[in-house]
Amino acid sequence: MLRNLIAKKRARIGIVGLGYVGLPLAVEIAAKGFKVTGIDIDEARVRSINKGISFISDVESPVLKKYVRQKLINATTDQSLLKRCDVILICVPTPVSVNKEPDLTPVIKSSQWIQKYLRKDQLIILKSTTYPETTERVLLPILEAAGLKVGRDFYLAFCPERIDPGNKRFGVVNTPVIIGGVTKKCTRIAAFFYKQFVEGVHPVSSPRSAEMTKLLENTFRNVNIALVNEFAQLCERMGGIDIWEVIEAARTKPFGFMPFFPGPGVGGHCIPIDPYYLSWKAREYDFHTVFIELSARINEEMPYFVVNKTIDVLSQSGVCPKKAKVLLLGIAFKRDISDLRDSPALKVYQIIEPRVGLVKYHDPHIPVLRTDHREVRSVKLNSKEIKKYDIVVILTDHSAYDYDMITKNARLIVDTRNAVQDGPRIFKLGAKADRL
Ligand SMILES: NC(=O)c1ccc[n+]([C@@H]2O[C@H](COP(=O)([O-])OP(=O)(O)OC[C@H]3O[C@@H](n4cnc5c(N)ncnc54)[C@H](O)[C@@H]3O)[C@@H](O)[C@H]2O)c1
Repeated sequence: MLRNLIAKKRARIGIVGLGYVGLPLAVEIAAKGFKVTGIDIDEARVRSINKGISFISDVESPVLKKYVRQKLINATTDQSLLKRCDVILICVPTPVSVNKEPDLTPVIKSSQWIQKYLRKDQLIILKSTTYPETTERVLLPILEAAGLKVGRDFYLAFCPERIDPGNKRFGVVNTPVIIGGVTKKCTRIAAFFYKQFVEGVHPVSSPRSAEMTKLLENTFRNVNIALVNEFAQLCERMGGIDIWEVIEAARTKPFGFMPFFPGPGVGGHCIPIDPYYLSWKAREYDFHTVFIELSARINEEMPYFVVNKTIDVLSQSGVCPKKAKVLLLGIAFKRDISDLRDSPALKVYQIIEPRVGLVKYHDPHIPVLRTDHREVRSVKLNSKEIKKYDIVVILTDHSAYDYDMITKNARLIVDTRNAVQDGPRIFKLGAKADRL
């Protein structure tokens, strides 16, 4: 029986999709003594994992190598190995199309693989973020087409991934998980599996509730970031009010307020994308998710706002923007990670380039920036280099930066993250517009 196999750590675990979600999960499950087979369509990733070389900053290569050597983790492109797996976790991407519509192709493809090899007593858990009803209306019909019945022959649940890449305090093990099974038995067995390697499990009544929980969490962040970005713009307009000082003051309230911070926009595979899954689904019910649209509008405007501010600072400091040399610091979408997906810093790069003389970037986590048409290298960051530029724009506040050195050597700084101390040549987002 599956429960016994799990209890004795003899259940084989399959993870479909070995990215920011799948690989850290593989490592934590292997750490508890389970054998994990990772299945991915990307051959380079599979080779890298089998050599014990991690491409995800939250997974240390020596740790991965240890489990690969102990034969607790192996990766493959061979989907037929799904047959051997007792528990299968689906961690594939859920992107949106250019028109911001959900693209479930990877989820559908991986479910079709699983259906091909589905057998009795297997537990399938969808981890990818998606709109409510995906598990029951998209996955379930594909899987049951194998001729097996959910809750009796096999088990299906949705368990949203809540990982926060780069977060040193909360990871896979100490972040509670939400689990919603298609039947009560599905929930119980999925919760039992998760209890083997995470500290907290919170079951809900259905996959739809679990899917909606994840979307509430991400939309909550999106809306609050938009709110504080709007306040930042207003503080600039009003002059003399510093949004950073205002947030510090507001957060002294011990209840009813939690701080969110302004910045050049939102990025990554989740916050800018997931709300669109919900707004798309809501339309099926004649419902318009006004908060989602509104916050997207504000957050997507932020890179333009940062570029306009930079151009203003240059011109009002006597530098002709068209001849200006600009250094962008931090290209990843957030601090201390190497994830570039939907990074607002990339947007800033794109928008500012035709408006100034020269743009270079530095990011300790991204040595080379590859776009469709070219490859750009990160400059070396030292006092000599910084002095070459008319302005430095801090877009992502990596902790590896020596901010004193940057402040001492930069002629002008636009700081979108409140990373440096106030000063006469420093122009913070949401503040100090009055000094221009
Ligand atoms: N990155 C995060 O911080 C985060 C956090 C919570 C939830 N999520 C959600 O988790 C899911 C995965 O995100 P991610 O960041 O790990 O993505 P990722 O792009 O880092 O990794 C996905 C992996 O799946 C592989 N893949 C794509 N199609 C496949 C298929 N048909 N079969 C097998 N493998 C396939 C890709 O090659 C890639 O290695 C998404 O739904 C995302 O919204 C991500």
